[in-house]
Amino acid sequence: MQLKTISWEKGKIRIIDQSKLPEKLEYISISDIKTLWRAIKSLQVRGAPALGAAAGLGVYLGIKDSSAKSFPQFSRELKRVSGYLAASRPTARNLFWGLERICSIALRNKNKPVAEIKKIIFKEGQKIIQEDRVACRKIADYGEKLIRHRDCVLTVCNAGILATIDYGTALGVIYRAKEQGKKIKVFACETRPMLQGARLTTWELKRKGIDVTLICDNMAATLMRQGKIDKVIAGADRIASNGDTANKIGTYNLAVLSKYHGIPFYIAAPASTFDLSIKSGRQIPIEERKAEEVTRLFFKKPMAARGIKVFNPAFDLTPHNLISAIITDKGVIRSPYHKNIRKILAPGAKLIGHLPKIQACTCPTKGAGTSTASHQVQAQLRTRCKISLAGGGRL
Ligand code: MRU
Repeated sequence: MQLKTISWEKGKIRIIDQSKLPEKLEYISISDIKTLWRAIKSLQVRGAPALGAAAGLGVYLGIKDSSAKSFPQFSRELKRVSGYLAASRPTARNLFWGLERICSIALRNKNKPVAEIKKIIFKEGQKIIQEDRVACRKIADYGEKLIRHRDCVLTVCNAGILATIDYGTALGVIYRAKEQGKKIKVFACETRPMLQGARLTTWELKRKGIDVTLICDNMAATLMRQGKIDKVIAGADRIASNGDTANKIGTYNLAVLSKYHGIPFYIAAPASTFDLSIKSGRQIPIEERKAEEVTRLFFKKPMAARGIKVFNPAFDLTPHNLISAIITDKGVIRSPYHKNIRKILAPGAKLIGHLPKIQACTCPTKGAGTSTASHQVQAQLRTRCKISLAGGGRL
């Protein structure tokens, strides 16, 4: 059976509940945006491209029953729903990209009846899904050429089917290499604390018949030193215009280790993950999550002294100079990134500020806060939800 991470079925959003994997493959249906918000926050649906799709379908879910009669009335609801979803998780660019896309198309059609705009929003949500399916396969086509027969690839977190609609970015490259007849071995870092590598990547790769071995995160250096790793491929949550990349915590470690050991380190991501409005990774908000994820979540007994201080950033930043290439759906981008990203993704475009922008928000809902946020991150999260759209329009 083909996996579909997120889709629209019978008037609801249907997702694979990733919190149940690898024990159970269970789909759940979501019929209101509060439940969707919680599903995003609790990683039942996760991975940057899947969050882009959740944004598209989520906005439709939130406005489909609107009784607004005029665009100003409707746009207030649209803004409320988008702002609410934007406050779920701050790092993955795709979530904001999806929200901006939907708000932007609504604004461009503001002279149409509300019922018509709702249909347009629904179609745009479906388009986001279709485009991700195509983008992942293009990434796979470009990326596969970098992989040799009998290569041994190290990956982190889950950048596969479960993080996208149905194919994956980093893991998509491996799937395509296998489809081309190449024999590939994968080492999957378990990815503490939420274990996306152990719970999701190994499950997904095994299901696809890929030779995969699970390792603890702190074993990567030893494997590299033993000459067992030919390449590292990871996904991305947000890539700045200079190539600095935010991805799952631990990615930066692997990039540093790869440099030391002379191993190519690749990032695989669609265009929707790039944030061309920011110059460097310093401007990427890094999510911090609950202490319990580190101290007890997957353990029968507490794994740390009661009340211990915990620092739990969900992502880290890999500076562009540690990245050998970024594999995108538009082609493989290499250094100098500040020039080549623009050349490949937006030729001719004025990058900074030309896009509609929805920023990470304060979390307005109970339970949304970060438990141990540093001052810097709290300041980033305090940024109010700003929704201003292309063409000078405002919702
Ligand atoms: O916290 P998560 O599980 O949403 O983090 C996901 C990742 O870090 C992925 O590597 C990234 O989103 C790319 S997915 C194609």
